[in-house]
Amino acid sequence: MGSITLRQVNKKFGEVAVIPSIDLEVEEGEFVVFVGPSGCGKSTLLRLIAGLEDVTSGAVLIDGKDATRLPPAKRKLSMVFQSYALYPHMSVRANIAFPLKMAGMPKAEIDAKVADAAETLNLTDYLDRKPRQLSGGQRQRVAIGRAIVRQPSAFLFDEPLSNLDASLRVQMRLEIAELHQQLGATMIYVTHDQVEAMTMADKIVVLNKGRVEQVGSPLELYRAPANLFVAGFIGSPRMNFIRGQAAAAYGAATIGVRPEHIQISTEGGIWQGTVGVTEHLGSDTFLHIHTEDLGTLTVRAGGYVDFGPGDTISLTPDPGRIHRFDSDGRAIR
Ligand SMILES: Nc1ncnc2c1ncn2[C@@H]1O[C@H](COP(=O)(O)OP(=O)(O)O)[C@@H](O)[C@H]1O
Ligand SMILES: [Mg+2]
Repeated sequence: MGSITLRQVNKKFGEVAVIPSIDLEVEEGEFVVFVGPSGCGKSTLLRLIAGLEDVTSGAVLIDGKDATRLPPAKRKLSMVFQSYALYPHMSVRANIAFPLKMAGMPKAEIDAKVADAAETLNLTDYLDRKPRQLSGGQRQRVAIGRAIVRQPSAFLFDEPLSNLDASLRVQMRLEIAELHQQLGATMIYVTHDQVEAMTMADKIVVLNKGRVEQVGSPLELYRAPANLFVAGFIGSPRMNFIRGQAAAAYGAATIGVRPEHIQISTEGGIWQGTVGVTEHLGSDTFLHIHTEDLGTLTVRAGGYVDFGPGDTISLTPDPGRIHRFDSDGRAIR
């Protein structure tokens, strides 16, 4: 249960084709992340899968069956949004129970399912509280609880952690990943945050302007980005891009080198530069290095390094980790 297939899915709002044409397979039990910049069509795509928007053309299949014209309630999918959309006057228990009550389930059965979901989400002690008596993370867990009790074929998450502060986001990220392991259910998760995508996904779908730029596992996208967009989007700090003669020497219009794949030394490297801003993170140092021919390059060095602004520095890219791109921005393999 829970496989989802998109066939030439197209969505127009008026004359604007927000999604020109997407083909995609989400396999049963997979954790798939749609990632891309704001406005690229992630929410629209998720809403098309949920049935909250109609496709302009193409087909949505759920468990191999055509669901294109099914109303949302018949698709057996549960959606969790950034705004938790809890009922403020209802207890946590009543909020989680709500969809079951609406479906007319007997009370004893509802109680058992709510208790189960509360246990899974560490909410057992909070069942009699109102949403305003909970932290942001707990509220989001209630929203997830409401999705779980329906036992959907698949969960659809639309930026569910964006309202939380940074440390809570990291914690909830782990909790959702653990929930996925525990339930084994298909999950589609939308985010603009590539770190969330990299840490949670089995499979990442990188979207840009309504198009799929690349589909792959986190490490596939990191190691072998298909084009300049994916190369620049995945990885932090961002990949350095170098054009002109230095790239031509590698038979490419552009070469890309990640900050962690450049060695620094006082002399003897193949590129020379002057250290600008250095960022000391403790675990790492990010150095921004101005060069005459290659522009400013970012280097990530482990731990503390004893280079400061104005120092002359020598750089050696790892030859096995230089990415080459043609004039259309496509990776040369
Ligand atoms: N109901 C709508 N009517 C018109 N345009 C819309 C509508 N919903 C979304 N869009 C447009 O579609 C594009 C994709 O939006 P969205 O799917 O919300 O992007 P994302 O979730 O990636 O930020 C945006 O340009 C947005 O303005
Ligand atoms: Mg969105």
